[in-house]
Amino acid sequence: MKETSDDPLVMPEAEESGLINTLNSMGTMTPDPDIFSRAFIQFAPRAPGRSLDIGAAYGVATLPALRSGASVIANDIDERHLKILFNRVPQEHRARLELVTGEFPDKLDFPAGSLGAVLICRVMHFFDGPRIERAAAKVMNWLAPGGKVFVVGETPFIGTAKAFFPTYEARLKAGHPWPGVVENAAAHDPKRAGSLPSLFHLLDERILERVFTAAGFEIERLELFARPDYPADIRLDGRESVGLIAVKK
Ligand SMILES: C[S@@+](CC[C@H](N)C(=O)[O-])C[C@H]1O[C@@H](n2cnc3c(N)ncnc32)[C@H](O)[C@@H]1O
Repeated sequence: MKETSDDPLVMPEAEESGLINTLNSMGTMTPDPDIFSRAFIQFAPRAPGRSLDIGAAYGVATLPALRSGASVIANDIDERHLKILFNRVPQEHRARLELVTGEFPDKLDFPAGSLGAVLICRVMHFFDGPRIERAAAKVMNWLAPGGKVFVVGETPFIGTAKAFFPTYEARLKAGHPWPGVVENAAAHDPKRAGSLPSLFHLLDERILERVFTAAGFEIERLELFARPDYPADIRLDGRESVGLIAVKK
């Protein structure tokens, strides 16, 4: 029987922009790694321990990290994503791959000091503030000295958050600790309401710097960056995403 995209073990077809829907309505996977994921892929083979890709989906970062020679733990909350990922990995790389289904950060654990690199790409924007803080603390504990965390998230500077922007600015002025929490994401992006959870947390440099510094990391790189390949309605002015690289000394 021919496999179709209704088969849960087949990766869904990409939309026109190249983005590929998740099977659990948790947004999309990008077709290619962004600049911060590429930094993770480069660092992973020489990291002081195995590398962990959190919310790996169908492997946009895990597959090239394996190709670069790294040993990778691919994590996702949805086991189906990891099964599809596994089927995409060439036989010769599978010995360096471990699949771990589980919900980061609260239902996922690794021995202290056992990991060398951790990528959290486009996952934290589903977390409220305290969960982001627990995430940073857990990663700090899992990493060996010299290990690095790589984080990527969407910012308030995306086309689909225009209606939310005044709320974000007002919260910033008022010193709100989590100005980018969009409580009703569906109202701001009705087109994608069916493929997103109700809470969306738009991140910025201030938040990532505060949280990861408080967890004990030294910030190595932190910047907003453009998403020229995002669909036209999400693109805005070159500040669509934020990326962080931080090191455990
Ligand atoms: C928006 S996709 C991002 C996929 C990929 N990392 C990328 O950058 O394109 C989010 C992925 O994270 C997974 N995910 C969401 N919450 C998670 C959690 N708490 N722990 C582990 N995985 C999670 C989803 O199942 C989904 O595969």
